[in-house]
Amino acid sequence: MQVSKQLEQIQPPPITEVKSWLTGRVFPDEKPLVDLCQAIPSYSPPMELIEYLKNSLDDPLTFKYSQDEGLPEVRDEVCSWYQRHYQGAPTPKQLCLTVGASQAFWLAISSLCQPNDEVIVQLPAYFDHPMGLQALGIKPVYAPFNPETAGQPDLEAIKRLISPKTKAILLVTPSNPTGAVISPDQITAFFELAQSHNISLILDETYNAFIGTTPHLLFNRSDWPNNFIQIASFGKTFALTGLRCGALIANHEFIQQVLKIQDSMVVCQPRPTQLALKFGCRHLDDWVAKNAATMQQRHDHFKADFLAAKTNFKLIASGSFFAWVKHPWNDLTGRQAAKRLVEEANLICLPGEAFGPGLEPYLRLSFGNIGVTQITEAVGRFQKFYL
Ligand SMILES: Cc1ncc(COP(=O)(O)O)c(C=O)c1O
Repeated sequence: MQVSKQLEQIQPPPITEVKSWLTGRVFPDEKPLVDLCQAIPSYSPPMELIEYLKNSLDDPLTFKYSQDEGLPEVRDEVCSWYQRHYQGAPTPKQLCLTVGASQAFWLAISSLCQPNDEVIVQLPAYFDHPMGLQALGIKPVYAPFNPETAGQPDLEAIKRLISPKTKAILLVTPSNPTGAVISPDQITAFFELAQSHNISLILDETYNAFIGTTPHLLFNRSDWPNNFIQIASFGKTFALTGLRCGALIANHEFIQQVLKIQDSMVVCQPRPTQLALKFGCRHLDDWVAKNAATMQQRHDHFKADFLAAKTNFKLIASGSFFAWVKHPWNDLTGRQAAKRLVEEANLICLPGEAFGPGLEPYLRLSFGNIGVTQITEAVGRFQKFYL
């Protein structure tokens, strides 16, 4: 079967690749596998949400399509959530509910760009972003990673990359994989940079519920719809990753164009997902805050243990679900280093180069998925590599 040449050149999905290294391996009880691979909350949604969804199964409407952009009452509820968390909010017409942030990203770039257009992507990049851009023939133009600033994007460096082909600056905050949070002032500066070049700032805010403060104040500005697109995920917020719960936020005219793709791609976010989202936005602020505090504690615990450990792995950046570390093996790529950790430490994580070119010296660890005891165990295993 013939396959698009463009597609063949793209890296395979990194988590699938790394998990395939486990095939045939058996891990002993005294040294079980520690999975630092996937960025999913370790907990389930609360019982009241589960009960609400169970009850919805008696309603025949639950199994039917909704409007392409989502049910009006769900979009209203999402806008109220924004008002509480961002001190400003999009209107329901500026919102399209999507099959995860992943689909929101595809809708954004395929509505904004044509093949051969450019999107500026900060390194290290969330791997699905370059994969999506390349699959559509859009060129990711990488802003270099600076270990000195722990993954914070540099306004001047990004400004220098803008060309007549640039359609957008793409940033992720908190970052996957460094955990770096871009401050509200910096976000304003990136927005104004995009505005001054008549391009878009695309902000992926999948982990926004884990910052603990107002992520930015763009929704307070009357001019945000001209140059800002937000990629939102409620998958991590309400522990609904399997229900594929996201949203695209942009100006109304843009959303109307987006719906042509939405209709031909998925029609709508599944109704059970919409119901869970409505329930979460209406009832779960306290539950989310409690879990965000737990995640912060896990991060603080990991950081303190890792910095105190005698290890040749170096912590470069960390925050929310992630740590970005430099491995000690100059002659190994990240992939080889990650394989060595599977083989010798029963520990699985992602290689740096999955997050963009030139990042072979690094590894991404994700501790959202594991509790404090396992974090201590994982750090202990890194310590065994002290040279
Ligand atoms: C930065 C970032 N964006 C998007 C996604 C995908 O989110 P969703 O599950 O809502 O599609 C992830 C998932 O890990 C992510 O880390």
